[in-house]
Amino acid sequence: MGRFYITTPIYYVNDAPHVGHAYCTVNADSMARWHRLAGDEVKFLTGTDEHGQKVADAAAGHGVSTHEWTDQTSARFREAWDALGISYDDFIRTTEPRHYESVQKFLAAIYENGYIYKDIYKGLYCVSCEDYFTAEASEDGNCPIHGRPLVEMEEENWFFKLSAFEDRLLEYYGAHPGFVTPETKSNEAYSFIKGGLRDISITRTSISWGVPVPWDENHVFYVWYDALINYLTAIGYGRDDDEVADWWPHSHHLIGKEIIRFHCVWWPAMCMAAGLEPVSHVQVHGWLLVGGQKLSKTMAAEGGVRLTDIAPVVLTNEFGVDPIRYYLLRETSLGNDGEFSLEGIIQRYNTDLANNLGNLVARVAAVVGSKCAGIGPAPRSESTLAPAARAAMAEAADAWERFNPQAALEATWGLIGSTNAYLEQHAPWKMEPGPDVEAVMGDALEAIRLVAVLASPAMPGVCQEIWRRLGLEGAPDGRTFAEAGVWGLYPGGVAVEKGEPLFPRIVSEQ
Ligand code: MSP
Repeated sequence: MGRFYITTPIYYVNDAPHVGHAYCTVNADSMARWHRLAGDEVKFLTGTDEHGQKVADAAAGHGVSTHEWTDQTSARFREAWDALGISYDDFIRTTEPRHYESVQKFLAAIYENGYIYKDIYKGLYCVSCEDYFTAEASEDGNCPIHGRPLVEMEEENWFFKLSAFEDRLLEYYGAHPGFVTPETKSNEAYSFIKGGLRDISITRTSISWGVPVPWDENHVFYVWYDALINYLTAIGYGRDDDEVADWWPHSHHLIGKEIIRFHCVWWPAMCMAAGLEPVSHVQVHGWLLVGGQKLSKTMAAEGGVRLTDIAPVVLTNEFGVDPIRYYLLRETSLGNDGEFSLEGIIQRYNTDLANNLGNLVARVAAVVGSKCAGIGPAPRSESTLAPAARAAMAEAADAWERFNPQAALEATWGLIGSTNAYLEQHAPWKMEPGPDVEAVMGDALEAIRLVAVLASPAMPGVCQEIWRRLGLEGAPDGRTFAEAGVWGLYPGGVAVEKGEPLFPRIVSEQ
């Protein structure tokens, strides 16, 4: 048993949560759930990033105070996560007093260590990114990511000596090969460092919406600079409830690919500057796209759907929580970009959920009803299905440990396939009631029990329902995987319920 501290990026509250945010949060949630199942002590952190120009502009644009706006929008994220069954242990808001306290302590440490100095900043700024660009990186004066005009900025700012960490970062990457995964993203961060690091401006005088700089009251910290520290705020950095020593060595950040530079270059350097080890692991994911684009402006202009317009709760209302979670986890492997489409959801739903899992559960319950008087028999220890189940469990557990929910679900669906094939082979529905049919059905029930355990981090609700229908007490994640993930534990002698179809097929026209 170990510890596992998993975080999502904290989301900007300039706008409502969308399915791209849900992609990241559901992945993190499934990992938190897997580690709880594996018996680890887990802390799962998500939250909202509430400072910066972009958020202040959004509030002004809606004619409400910044506080009012952040309260409303942060609440919408919580609602979305509740609708998706997100099991976060802590929800941080960067406007909370605990965050101000930790940020000021952390940055005072960097200041005292001599890595912060004052200078004039001049550069091009994108408010949507909350980031600076050089003239070369801009596209005709526009942001290369958002296509919006960059704004010329000139201010007296405090700077962080990022350049002083070039060698230490390169050494750190060399000594910690798994620091950033997948490897392609690690290489990207490494090349960025190798290309040379410039000092970064970390404070603002032009806005007051931010965490005040403790040693200079005219300045607030630049939003990214306070935001990254949220991961330490949540474990009490610099406060009375400090648990950094317990959790930081077990920390994992799940982030999208466009914020690699902040998490894999700035953040480890900031930690080093404050005299702290960097986060232990950063897992990078790609983007969900619609029609090959993240923000499809043309589609919006044509009245089409933008990914950022799709609210997670609309999807869960339409398809159910677990099918959406399954789709997000199964369709796109972490690290690659993926195409999001309603057709894709329906396809996964009908094939993997209705045909494979749903049918398996329904047909087993039906045969137990007709041939075993509705009482589930116990499995055989020497069943020919047992090796497939053991292989699937080993593969899925390994994939969950490697931050690969997609592969874990693939292995789990492999066991569903083997069980369906096992039933086809023995055709228990053609057998006479008696020991032979009971033997086959006991094995099938045991395989379904194991599927419910293995899939529970992805689809907690449905797996609980399957558990109940099998006549089992408690929950699929009620015991650790080491205890529950063993062939042969289905007790037998319990009533199996047929119930309504778990996943009624979707007809496309609907
Ligand atoms: N506030 C910063 C993060 C600070 S963390 C210290 C931020 N916020 S964000 O709301 O713009 O994005 C948060 C996360 O959502 C990013 O990891 C980003 O990759 C992810 N996604 C936003 N759109 C996405 C898709 N279309 N697809 C997948 N993830 C996407 O950046």
